[in-house]
Amino acid sequence: MDYTLITGASDGIGEAAARKFATKKHNLVLVARNESKLQQLCNDLTKSQGIKAAFIVADLSQANAPIHIYEECKKRNLRIDVLINNAGVGSSGEFSGNNLKTELDIIQINCASLTALTHLFLQDMKQRNTGTIINIGSIIAFVASPYMSVYAASKHFVKIFSYSLAEECKLYNVHVMFFCPGLTTSNFMNTPANNNDWGKALTSGANAQTPNQVAGELSMAFDKKKAFHVSGSKNRGMVALSGLFPLRTIARIFAKQKQKQMSLIPQ
Ligand SMILES: NC(=O)c1ccc[n+]([C@@H]2O[C@H](COP(=O)([O-])OP(=O)(O)OC[C@H]3O[C@@H](n4cnc5c(N)ncnc54)[C@H](OP(=O)(O)O)[C@@H]3O)[C@@H](O)[C@H]2O)c1
Repeated sequence: MDYTLITGASDGIGEAAARKFATKKHNLVLVARNESKLQQLCNDLTKSQGIKAAFIVADLSQANAPIHIYEECKKRNLRIDVLINNAGVGSSGEFSGNNLKTELDIIQINCASLTALTHLFLQDMKQRNTGTIINIGSIIAFVASPYMSVYAASKHFVKIFSYSLAEECKLYNVHVMFFCPGLTTSNFMNTPANNNDWGKALTSGANAQTPNQVAGELSMAFDKKKAFHVSGSKNRGMVALSGLFPLRTIARIFAKQKQKQMSLIPQ
């Protein structure tokens, strides 16, 4: 039986995506750290949608988590036909002042674990000559973003990895999509690493979508077999506009603007 595996499914965009794909009658494997939330979501979706739903508790900041997830799927005979690499974390603030462990966790969760899960599940998809891998990026992947430096770099990694992989995988009928939300009203900005004055300055005035809206666009992009999609029309406009300027110019303008906002330089 085929399953759609979603990482970071206990909250935010991942949870909304789980609910959306359940209405499309996808069987689900939900991955995150919060066991009780995953258990509750599985029970809810099994009852309300009549699908099969399983969960795996894993901490993707740990290097052995992807192999644990893969082996659990094998052991429980959960064949993964769609992999949605959604789990992601970030931080706001000056890099030199940020906690180094948090910065390295961003790279482990957003880049290394995503890469490992893709490598593991891709082997089986390639053999079966079918499958879909969706990597959740961000519109930050199209700019340089001082004061969110490591997070922005991690999403650039996901972008280049996804674009390249998409072409390699065409030979095996495995579809790869790079899907980019903009600011979303999830708990992403409420984590200790983001919930600070810099986080507020970086997101002030930005247009936000709800996790439900983002999941709706993800579902539409999946149905249309898109290779790339930016969620939200305003975000699509911003990404198009960003392409007109060199990354270094964007970084310079952005840094000056935020430094003024934080009174580090005169207004
Ligand atoms: N929100 C935004 O403004 C925004 C904008 C652009 C892109 N995105 C991207 O969208 C994706 C989803 O973000 P979101 O807004 O839905 O964030 P969120 O509401 O904070 O949810 C994050 C999810 O990831 C899980 N997670 C966090 N750390 C984990 C770890 N170490 N191991 C396993 N799971 C972990 C969390 O579950 P547990 O705590 O239970 O582990 C939760 O289910 C991310 O890739 C993010 O970069 C978000």
